[in-house]
Amino acid sequence: MTVGDGRPERIPINAPSIGPDELAAVQRVLGSGWIGTGPECDRFERELADHLGGVEVVCTSSCTAAIEIAVDHLGLPPGSRVGVPAWTHPATALPAALSGATVVLLDVDPDTLQLSTESLAGAIDEGLDLLIPVHFAGRPLDRAILDRARSAGIPIVEDAAHAFGASDADGPVAGRGSVAAAFSFHATKNLTTGEGGALATTDPELAAFARTHRHHGLDEDAWSRQRSGRWSAGDILQPGRKANLPDTLAAIGRVQLRSFADRQEHRRNLVTRYRGHLSTLEGASFVPATPGPGDADHLAVVVLDPGVDRDRVVEHLESAGISTGLHYTPLHHLTWFREHAVVGPSGLAACDDLARRALTLPLHARLREADVDDVCQQLAAAVGPSGGR
Ligand SMILES: Cc1ncc(COP(=O)(O)O)c(C=O)c1O
Repeated sequence: MTVGDGRPERIPINAPSIGPDELAAVQRVLGSGWIGTGPECDRFERELADHLGGVEVVCTSSCTAAIEIAVDHLGLPPGSRVGVPAWTHPATALPAALSGATVVLLDVDPDTLQLSTESLAGAIDEGLDLLIPVHFAGRPLDRAILDRARSAGIPIVEDAAHAFGASDADGPVAGRGSVAAAFSFHATKNLTTGEGGALATTDPELAAFARTHRHHGLDEDAWSRQRSGRWSAGDILQPGRKANLPDTLAAIGRVQLRSFADRQEHRRNLVTRYRGHLSTLEGASFVPATPGPGDADHLAVVVLDPGVDRDRVVEHLESAGISTGLHYTPLHHLTWFREHAVVGPSGLAACDDLARRALTLPLHARLREADVDDVCQQLAAAVGPSGGR
């Protein structure tokens, strides 16, 4: 349903771009006689590897599974300490928590919402065995973070859930200079398969491990057996996970990859428009304030000025038919992490402040520039004197 000038009655915070090509691709696979993980997933992996350039790609059932596989491969000894930013989805930290490691929560830079260098430096001094930083909102990680961890000999697994399409001076974010990058193709992501993910790495041994590990650790997956015509149930040399991406979903990803550049360009235009409106607004700031050349523009996050009542802003936008969200509730505000994780030496003051002031606005490839104008107009009314204060 639309109102007035074609604006949808409700502007969702997120919406997948699924069209006839995705539908046709799924139908083709459904009718092909093989709907598990097989040739379509192989093709998707090759196309992703071409897109990312010079890395191996192994598709998984999620970004979480890709992080788990990388953590499993590292084989952290008991008592290991794993640093993660507290401003993230729990999935960044849970694979380490489930491996028995101690999760060390680190603060973020309020200007980018990325892991702060000071917080990392203090944690390195106290000892870290692994770092899992997040390319928050698709802004590629600050090189200083990666260099600092690398020079201290700490392995890095990049949580690139938001960062498919992001690039830095070395090219597309893809696990170069780290153990691996883990992408998410979840329903809300810039490239979606509904649920899904991928591990990108320059380490052939990790890639081979991931291919086996995502199929329980079986030395031969079902598609290889079918293709070779061999009758065998396979052998397990090491216990693995069930974390494969079926061909039905890989088919969606292949179509999404072909149209990816156009959607990214549209996202960039929307984010530029948000920044333009909000640069002169008192009461809320777009974060990061300035664009980065390699941004994947995954989220539109604003930080409200101190004194603005966020609940009232959310209510105002809601009554105007505009959905909002929060990325994120910091991990130490969640019960398990509060009780079991440790806080890095620099504390979590920025995360605590952001927990009261951050707000996510709609951003997706089906949003129109006029919708952004409308969201910003309503936000201005909400944070103004008669609005959210
Ligand atoms: C930063 C971050 N890491 C990891 C994940 C988990 O992704 P997935 O659902 O593909 O496991 C998400 C999900 O949104 C996320 O935002």
